[in-house]
Amino acid sequence: MDAAFAQDIHQGLTADQKYIPCQYFYDERGSWLFQQIMQLPEYYLTACETQILEQYNEELLQAFRAGGQSFNLIDLGAGDATKTKSLIGPYVDKGIDFTYTPVDLAPSILSALSDSLDAVYEDNLRYNAMNADYWEAMEALQSSGDPARKVVLFLGSNIGNFDAQQSMAFLQRLKTYLRPGDLVLLGFDLKKRPEIIYQAYLDTKGTTAAFNLNLLHRINRELGGSFKPNYFRFYPAYNPQTGVLSSFLVAQKEQAVHIEALDLTVHFDQWEAIHTEISCKHTQTDIEALARAAGYHIQAQYTDKKAYFTDVLLTVEA
Ligand code: AVI
Repeated sequence: MDAAFAQDIHQGLTADQKYIPCQYFYDERGSWLFQQIMQLPEYYLTACETQILEQYNEELLQAFRAGGQSFNLIDLGAGDATKTKSLIGPYVDKGIDFTYTPVDLAPSILSALSDSLDAVYEDNLRYNAMNADYWEAMEALQSSGDPARKVVLFLGSNIGNFDAQQSMAFLQRLKTYLRPGDLVLLGFDLKKRPEIIYQAYLDTKGTTAAFNLNLLHRINRELGGSFKPNYFRFYPAYNPQTGVLSSFLVAQKEQAVHIEALDLTVHFDQWEAIHTEISCKHTQTDIEALARAAGYHIQAQYTDKKAYFTDVLLTVEA
């Protein structure tokens, strides 16, 4: 049993306002469901960011290899690297000297990624897949003493799953692993017509609902929970003032759930909700303020044609 998972679930389900931390979405099934979400027509984020990485491929390359240096592309939370492949494919074709380091917590996703990298690029891509959390990976890369420039990719609006304080803490911690000249490419989902954002999370196929309900299946599987997932309903809510899309699992009837490993029975009133995730949408002003306050400089910024999504290239201030 994963002790941190057990402790976090205990804390979240005994809180006044119940919650489950969103990092627990990504077990094997959750990671697979997220790959499906990225292909949904409503989930515009992936297509928009892919378009950016294709369109500005050459400009990004110039920045990555400024001074003729070799670079290490460190892809935090790589998943199946659909987006990243559109970035690295042309670099492989051009015979550019770089290493690709996908980092992910799900071993099966990472081994599927390795298989596909082998199949597509054969021996032409130098890669080092790391099954680790972000900080374990950054630690290992730092102690390896590799002199190549680090280019950290944090794509797909992963930063949007942090609140303002957590985003700041993340960027500040990341900076401790970077040297002057290293780069960070950060993907932000932008504020836009609220209906578009809302529909990206309330997809017609119900894949996002399944992704959220998988949290209850996971508690049943790993902690001996007695959740009946069909007693819960997925509900997303978008606040256009704060730019926060909040996800919830709402109890459709009063019920008690026992969790064996925690020796805990949790009572749910009818319509009581479990908060599962925030997905923050940004403005240009708050992106600039965040970068500056965390001690980075915006070297360049790329936005898709519809101005739905933006990738910001950051340098560490000396
Ligand atoms: C990974 N993350 C940026 C996704 C998001 O949009 O917040 C996770 C997700 N949740 C529901 N759909 C996608």
